[in-house]
Amino acid sequence: MVKIAILGFGTVGSGVAEVLKMNASSIAKRAGQEIDVKYILDIRDFPGSPFESLVIHDFEIIEKDPEVSLVVETIGGAKLAYEFTRRALLAGKSVVTSNKELVATHGVELLSIAAEKNVSYLFEASVGGGIPILRPLTNCLAGNEIMEIRGILNGTTNYILTRMFRAGLSFEDALAEAQALGYAEANPSADVDGIDAGRKTCILADLAYGYEVCPDQIAPIGIRSISAADVAGAEACGRVIRLIGRVLRREDGRVHLIVAPHLVSNTCPLACVEDVFNAIMVTGNAVDETMFYGRGAGKLPTASAVVGDVVDIVRNLPARRALSWVKAPADYVADNAELIYSFFIRAKADAAAAKAAFGDVTIISEEDGICVFLTPAMETAKAESCAKALDVLSFIRVLN
Ligand code: HSE
Repeated sequence: MVKIAILGFGTVGSGVAEVLKMNASSIAKRAGQEIDVKYILDIRDFPGSPFESLVIHDFEIIEKDPEVSLVVETIGGAKLAYEFTRRALLAGKSVVTSNKELVATHGVELLSIAAEKNVSYLFEASVGGGIPILRPLTNCLAGNEIMEIRGILNGTTNYILTRMFRAGLSFEDALAEAQALGYAEANPSADVDGIDAGRKTCILADLAYGYEVCPDQIAPIGIRSISAADVAGAEACGRVIRLIGRVLRREDGRVHLIVAPHLVSNTCPLACVEDVFNAIMVTGNAVDETMFYGRGAGKLPTASAVVGDVVDIVRNLPARRALSWVKAPADYVADNAELIYSFFIRAKADAAAAKAAFGDVTIISEEDGICVFLTPAMETAKAESCAKALDVLSFIRVLN
């Protein structure tokens, strides 16, 4: 029997305990032995919970208990979670986490401690919630050069955008719904400003190419400014709006990372991804296009991915599951001003002014002094410069 500890008994941590209990016998078969939760660390008590008797408040008990060989970190954030993860790894315990902030910001260090101590540090749940994506990317697609990854990586914003399109809700009302359903991060800014999707995009790039991209190397654009008029304009040209994280490999080996709302054609599979679902398309030079789809947030879906990592580690003991990436060369991340896009623009202008500024535009509508149009494909820097000639209300990328 393997004894484990869960750090943080919030949505994901309690889901992990629940999944381990609910599927105990099939999990034991797959892992080759039983997996027993010995401790749950939290600052709170949980009177009445079936796991009440396991709750402790002192991490040192876990750190010093040689019986605990694996720790599940579901505290979140990069402060306490960072300290406890380091200490657990240094104490020779494997760690499994759903914590994308920690992995994206301290992955290099934590993975190298894990290697030093010959233990595993796994984080399948950190990207795409319940979707298997990191293991397929690093194992099943290992025979490919990864050309591009594009995905809907944040459930909360996808829920908000879906409700804006499907039910005509305002951004604020849709966000309140997402929060009530428990999808949003404690601070919704991480979701709606694209920070959470940025961290996940970094982790995908780290694993795809083996070089670290730090979240502060991306300037994410969130969805706060998406208005009912943008929704109407997108619908009028057969598209929806989705918050997309993209990693694009250039011929010179450098990469572009971008997180921004994009207009997505109704014929693209990503347009059908609604509510809290996420989807990630990975294009490899041998496999061509692949797509991974599922629930990107929520208690049991995220716990499913965490428990999958726990089983993977236990099944392969005493071998360690090795993942790694290293610091990147200084100019590894390329300037997104060079990226080529067509843009969806709403501007206080008429069609003639739109054409004068951007050339061969496609007019979507022109009424009440507002022109909505699509630009031809052009470098982002050029589009930004052309836009200066108009009073622009919306400037949104169109996914090709
Ligand atoms: N707040 C995140 C989301 C949770 O909405 O996708 C899962 O990472």
